[in-house]
Amino acid sequence: MSLPTRFPKNFKLATATAAYQIEGAKELDGRGISTWDAIRSEYGRIRDDSNPTLSCEGRLKYKEDVALLAKIGVTSYRFSISWSRILPNGTLSEINKEAIQYYRDVCLLLRDNGIEPIVTLFHFDMPLAIYDNGTSWLNKENCEHFVKFADLCFREFGDLVKTWITFNEINMQAWSSVVKIQGELWLCPDRPEIENHEQAPYIAATNMLLTHAKIYRNYEKNYKETQDGIIGITNGGRFCFPASDSPDDQAARNRALDWLFNYTIEPILTDSGDFPATMREKLPFLPKFTDEEKEMIKGSTDFLGINYYLSHMVRDISDDETPTSQSERDASYAFVEGKWEKICGETWVRYAPDGLLALLKYVKEKYNNIPVFITENGCMNLIGEEEKKEEDILNDKHRIKYITGHLEAVAKAIDNGCNVIGYTLWTLMDNFEWDDGFAVKFGICRVDFESPEKTRTMKQSAKYYQTFIREFKKHHNLL
Ligand code: BGC
Repeated sequence: MSLPTRFPKNFKLATATAAYQIEGAKELDGRGISTWDAIRSEYGRIRDDSNPTLSCEGRLKYKEDVALLAKIGVTSYRFSISWSRILPNGTLSEINKEAIQYYRDVCLLLRDNGIEPIVTLFHFDMPLAIYDNGTSWLNKENCEHFVKFADLCFREFGDLVKTWITFNEINMQAWSSVVKIQGELWLCPDRPEIENHEQAPYIAATNMLLTHAKIYRNYEKNYKETQDGIIGITNGGRFCFPASDSPDDQAARNRALDWLFNYTIEPILTDSGDFPATMREKLPFLPKFTDEEKEMIKGSTDFLGINYYLSHMVRDISDDETPTSQSERDASYAFVEGKWEKICGETWVRYAPDGLLALLKYVKEKYNNIPVFITENGCMNLIGEEEKKEEDILNDKHRIKYITGHLEAVAKAIDNGCNVIGYTLWTLMDNFEWDDGFAVKFGICRVDFESPEKTRTMKQSAKYYQTFIREFKKHHNLL
């Protein structure tokens, strides 16, 4: 059986983007300033120090981009709605009608092309006015503003959008709510510093979990029946393997998994309605949920989104060791270099499809076989590639290997009874890669950032995915 034919007929084969990473058009239709506009404008903050106005101009080129998606043939497209574009101040005090029309146009065009929209409500960028109002997700008032934003989105787009994702990677965002995305402090001169940086990410994550649950319950009560949609949450997925068979390393690996993966979903997906027990033991300051909150959080998702890029090998640490990252320190473990291929060169991505398979089996066992949507998976261009000729950049064999390996892992997981409902390739086109600016490119389509048209060209990986999807559709008579 060929790989594409191993996926069931209703399986989704998607690709994805996020608003801040592709849209550009910062001032168009009255969009408000977002946190990432501010981070980018700080000299030296972004790796390539890129011109803060550089972008793929996705806001203006959406018709072309939908045509590209249709050409590739994806069943679904995951994108995010920019909170700053819809609500320039972050609150309902000003609603941007043109921005609403813009996202409706995108959805309508997708529908005309037979592509299902999957919408993320929060993908890392927050209106700056809200952030300044009191350190982002540490402030419960801001959480309420987001609940209202989500409600507005259900009202305005719910006739067209049937799959929603509240948050992209709460654990990552918990860091960037007070610090930058990769964990470096964001000490903007006029921004208040919180008192205890070590506690802040956990408090922010707790607030986001509660916010997620409120949004879920609102959708369930007021929209689900009439709009007939589903709503989930996306978690960063990194599987952990123990560095040896020793009980200490095994226990360290379990703690690492709790901190890196279970932390932001265990309250939702288990009967405890609470954080992993190891975290409760080690972090006395971890906020406590009331019984009412636990009831609200428990079961508050229709599916689990997982973004997967790599796995880790971990070991226990001795009492006198102080690892560098806060997660390692708090949970008492250390990363060990794994055996996986550095498929893009010296970067953080690893070619670890075995980790994805193990993770999916783990989720099946631990979380009662909840439906899983792989909401991101992909790899960056080869390091040093910018010096290469365009035709070589387009010939991204390493990415084809990466995609094939992971799709194989998903097919194996399905054979093993894992309830995987979709796979999403990150990302449709080269775009703004947060701290790395435009120095790192994950696109299956190349963007010529020098050209005024920001020309998109399909790389070999996009063509590979196109052929893959065509075969899948042909097999199931979906063409
Ligand atoms: C994020 C994306 C990002 C990707 C690669 C994911 O965690 O959701 O926005 O581009 O990682 O770094």
